[in-house]
Amino acid sequence: MIKLSGIRKSYGRNEVLKGIDLTVEKGEVVAILGPSGSGKTTLLRCINYLEKPSDGEIRIGDFTLDCRRAGKKDIRALRLRSAMVFQQYNLFSHKTALENVTEGLIVVKKMNKEEARKRGIRLLEKVGLGAKLDAYPSQLSGGQQQRVGIARALALEPEVILFDEPTSALDPELVGEVLDVIRRIAKEGITMIIVTHEMGFAQDVAGHVVFMDGGMIVEEGRPSELFGNPKEERTKQFLKRIAPEPSYSI
Ligand SMILES: Nc1ncnc2c1ncn2[C@@H]1O[C@H](COP(=O)(O)OP(=O)(O)OP(=O)(O)O)[C@@H](O)[C@H]1O
Ligand SMILES: [Mg+2]
Repeated sequence: MIKLSGIRKSYGRNEVLKGIDLTVEKGEVVAILGPSGSGKTTLLRCINYLEKPSDGEIRIGDFTLDCRRAGKKDIRALRLRSAMVFQQYNLFSHKTALENVTEGLIVVKKMNKEEARKRGIRLLEKVGLGAKLDAYPSQLSGGQQQRVGIARALALEPEVILFDEPTSALDPELVGEVLDVIRRIAKEGITMIIVTHEMGFAQDVAGHVVFMDGGMIVEEGRPSELFGNPKEERTKQFLKRIAPEPSYSI
């Protein structure tokens, strides 16, 4: 289980997260929606401590971190439990697909090279890239690079994977292949938090949807409730602006 309690984050005088409370059950897929600037990326980055929250508590499984007191050891422990998939992939450009996946296993998990290689190959096969092990990011399409990013996150066997708009940098024809991979791993029961603008996908894959605005959670619930019968005016306005995406179908 993941439990965020009172997460706050300020940049100077600008408070961009105003006390976020969120519980995600093990194996659950949560989609986070909200307008630009509402704090979605900042929240994901805080969960992985790429940004230091100003206040609050992060619990992942049996590990709890108090953001006001966290030391290096705590941050390391937290990062071992969560992995991030970035909007812009963030692969090492001078490393092959396989090396991108095995790097964290060798450096962070101290796995031996042969074992890391085996796991890397297995995961790249799983995301449909068994034929691209030795390709460099510049030789891969955006969709393929993002699938390497997903394999890299899976490799660390985190308790939760955090996706920040994983398809928004992609050409439309490449979106489906990445969403298909995410949907497939979601079925395996991996806990996921996904920031996405793909409403059809969110409706389809997420068991729980969260709408954020102005650094707060305005409304959350099951997809059928939130999309079908939103209660808050701000949610209604937002959903009206973002028409359901007919582009993604099963
Ligand atoms: N490093 C930073 N320094 C100062 N302000 C920042 C920084 N990062 C984000 N912000 C501010 O925090 C607010 C929330 O930004 P964030 O990137 O989390 O929004 P978002 O919901 O992910 O938006 P988008 O949908 O455009 O990705 C914005 O007002 C942004 O300008
Ligand atoms: Mg963002």
